[in-house]
Amino acid sequence: MPSWISGSADLRARWALDPSVDYLNHGSFGATPRSVLAVQAGFREEMEREPVEFLARRLPERLDVVRARVAGFVGAQPDGLVFVSNATHGVDAALGAIDWQPGDEVVHADHGYHAVKRAIHRLGHAHDVRLVPAVIPFPLHDMERVIEAFAAAISPRTRLVIVDHITSPTALILPVAELVQLCRARGVPVLVDGAHAPGLLDLRLDELNADFYTGNLHKWVCAPKGAALFYVHPDWRKRVHARVTSHGYELGLAPEFEWTGTFDPTAWLSVPAALDHLEGLGVEDVRASNHALVQEGRQRLAHALGVELPHPDHPSWYGPMASVQVPWATSAEGPSLNARLFAEHRIEVPFTGYDGRCFVRISGQAYNAPEQYVRLAEVLRTWR
Ligand SMILES: Cc1ncc(COP(=O)(O)O)c(C=O)c1O
Repeated sequence: MPSWISGSADLRARWALDPSVDYLNHGSFGATPRSVLAVQAGFREEMEREPVEFLARRLPERLDVVRARVAGFVGAQPDGLVFVSNATHGVDAALGAIDWQPGDEVVHADHGYHAVKRAIHRLGHAHDVRLVPAVIPFPLHDMERVIEAFAAAISPRTRLVIVDHITSPTALILPVAELVQLCRARGVPVLVDGAHAPGLLDLRLDELNADFYTGNLHKWVCAPKGAALFYVHPDWRKRVHARVTSHGYELGLAPEFEWTGTFDPTAWLSVPAALDHLEGLGVEDVRASNHALVQEGRQRLAHALGVELPHPDHPSWYGPMASVQVPWATSAEGPSLNARLFAEHRIEVPFTGYDGRCFVRISGQAYNAPEQYVRLAEVLRTWR
């Protein structure tokens, strides 16, 4: 049991979020505690006092220190870990590492992130590469179906499998260890898109043994926006390159990825402060408390919307996010529902979609209180 109360005045005051909004969408962009923003502001001040000292002379060694801390947190050797701006960049770097041939296929779940599908679509234009969906039923009551879906989608033409660690529209935690094993057994490289995973799940990236793994630190570690990691398996470390070429080309992963031209590295440098904040609250306590908020919230929503819960109620299936179907809306209506909810009720929550269906996806974070989900459920009940 945490020593703090989720959504209490003390917890809410730690974040800069607008108190007039019920912010139930930590999942999209995260939210950064004021203490971490203050550390970042300090770095910015220092950078502007002597930019050359900060960016040219001190940055690489400082990033190595941050890397060591993050590597410990995600169970990886530091040599295979670099900082990138977001998971999208990590996915793009992995796509760039493959020597695509016409007719190659990329397997990606139908619950996969839309922007990743667009990146595969773009590969299609450039190299005649095709996306093959792993079709995951939803509602889902047996994770074996997920493994079967990927197994069925992999063919001799598959050049890469992309597995979402936590799916974006449906917030499911997929069985990545089994899926990586499946890809290894079939001899196909695998990229795990763990955009939501760092902070939310215990990661053991070396043990996982994926070819590539990317994950955001600005979501559930609550680092400033623009902080993410990209893990590269030893087999690929000499073959993967940053997509933007600068001084560090072919000098190793960190020199290549961590200098792609002048930029603001303060989000990366502030990751230890974010980890301090998370660990100060207690990583396990935060996870349990956030999950409990969402567990209760999704039950209320399902009741208000008159739908079944779409998956079992166990923390191995979902963490601090959950999706419930909005049975009277289509996926195309999602953005207007979001806008209306915000305009009329100042509730911020995403309406996600896939397969033409619309889902409301709630997040739970330490600044949230149970009554916020009650308010959301009551509004949606009246919209039926
Ligand atoms: C599964 C998945 N992949 C990739 C991303 C992209 O993350 P970012 O916008 O930080 O690059 C997201 C964002 O929510 C996601 O859910």
